Amino acid sequence: MNTEIVKIVGSTEGGESRFSETELSSLRRAAAIIRTGGLVVFPTETVYGLGGDATNPDAAQKIYAAKGRPSDNPLIIHIEKPEDAEKYAYTTELYYKLAECFMPGPLTVVLKARESVPEKTRGGLETVAVRCPINPIARALIGFSNVAIAAPSANLSGSPSPTKASHVIDDMLGRVDMIIDGGECDFGLESTIVKIDDDGSLCLLRPGKITVDELSSIAKVRLADAVTDKLRDGEKALSPGMKYRHYAPTSPLVLLDGSIEDCLDYIEKTGQSSIAILCYSEDMNALSERLPMATLYELGESEDELSHAHALFDVLRTADKQNVDIIYAPLPRRSGIGLALYNRMIRAAAHTIINLRR
Ligand code: TXA
Ligand code: MG
Repeated sequence: MNTEIVKIVGSTEGGESRFSETELSSLRRAAAIIRTGGLVVFPTETVYGLGGDATNPDAAQKIYAAKGRPSDNPLIIHIEKPEDAEKYAYTTELYYKLAECFMPGPLTVVLKARESVPEKTRGGLETVAVRCPINPIARALIGFSNVAIAAPSANLSGSPSPTKASHVIDDMLGRVDMIIDGGECDFGLESTIVKIDDDGSLCLLRPGKITVDELSSIAKVRLADAVTDKLRDGEKALSPGMKYRHYAPTSPLVLLDGSIEDCLDYIEKTGQSSIAILCYSEDMNALSERLPMATLYELGESEDELSHAHALFDVLRTADKQNVDIIYAPLPRRSGIGLALYNRMIRAAAHTIINLRR
C-alpha cells in the first residue's frame, strides 16, 4: 500500500487553532479516507493514533491487521465534543462531570455501548471506550470526518507507542493510507482510562496524565489490580489490553529500585559491557565516570515527571535499536504522573525489578 505522508503544523491565534489552505486540504483528504473505510495515522496530545471510521467494522478489521493486534482487544473511539458520546454510548451524570473537568484532554471513559458501534470495534465487549482529544489536528480530523474515529496507538503490537512521526513511519509505512506528521506528541504516554462502575465509583484501568488525585476530586477511585501488579494465571483482565505484553523492547529492560550509588554498584558488579541506561539528568556525570562503556539516555531531572513521560517511548525505541544486551532504568514512584510511568515501565520490563533498598 502506498502511504501518503503530510506535514501539518498549524498555528494558534487568540486561542483558536488555524491551519493553512494546504493543511486544510490535507485534513479534508484525510477525512475522506476515513469516511471511505481507509486508515489515517494522526497525532494526539498523548501518542499517535491509527484511525479508522468507528462505525465501520471493515475499518476496525484493517486497524487490527495493520497493528498486528488480536481482534479481541477493543479500540478507543475519538469524538470531537463530549456530548457526541451520546451517539455511541449510554452516558451518565458522572461522565458529564468528568467531561466538564477533563475533556477535551487525555482521559478515556468506558461506557455501555450503543448499537452504532460495531462489535468489531468493541472487540466483542458490551462497552466502548470514549475519548475527546485536545490536539487541534486530531479535533479537526474528527470534525471533518463527521464520525467518531476508532484509534489505538499507532505502533506495531508489542512495541512502544509512537510519540514522533519518525516512530510512526518506522512501524506503519505501507500499512496505512496516510500519516499526518504533526510533530512530537505533547504528553508522550497514552490517556488515563476509567470505567464508571454501577455504584457510581471509578475504576482506573490505565493511569495517565489525569492522575488518581485529580479523579478523586470527582468520585471514589479504585485501581484495577493490573495497573501495578502482574495478572495471575487465568485472571480475567478488566481491560483486555492489560493481558498482552506491552511496550516491550527486544533487549530486556530491568528496573532498579535504589539510590544512584546502589544502582552504580549493582551494574558495576554484573560486569556487563553491552548496556544502555535510562537515567536522570543529575546522575549523568556519575554514571559516565563509573560506567564509561554504557550508553546513557536522559529522561530529564528526577523530579520532572512530565519530562520523563515525554521522553520514555522515544528513549526506549532508540535504546532498543542499539541492540545492547540489557537496558537499565530507575523504578518510577507510584504517585501522580509517576503511576503512569510505573505502569508502562513494569510492563516494558515484564515486571523485572531489582530491589536495592536496604
Ligand atoms: O491516548 C490514548 O488513549 C491513545 C490515543 C491514540 O488516543 N490510544 C490508545 O489506544 O492508547 P490503545 O488501543 O493502544 O489502548 C487502549 C486500551 C487497550 O488496552 C484496550 O484494551 C483498552 O484501552 N480498552 C479499549 N476499549 C475498552 C473497553 N471497552 N473496556 C476496557 N478497556 C478497553
Ligand atoms: Mg496501545
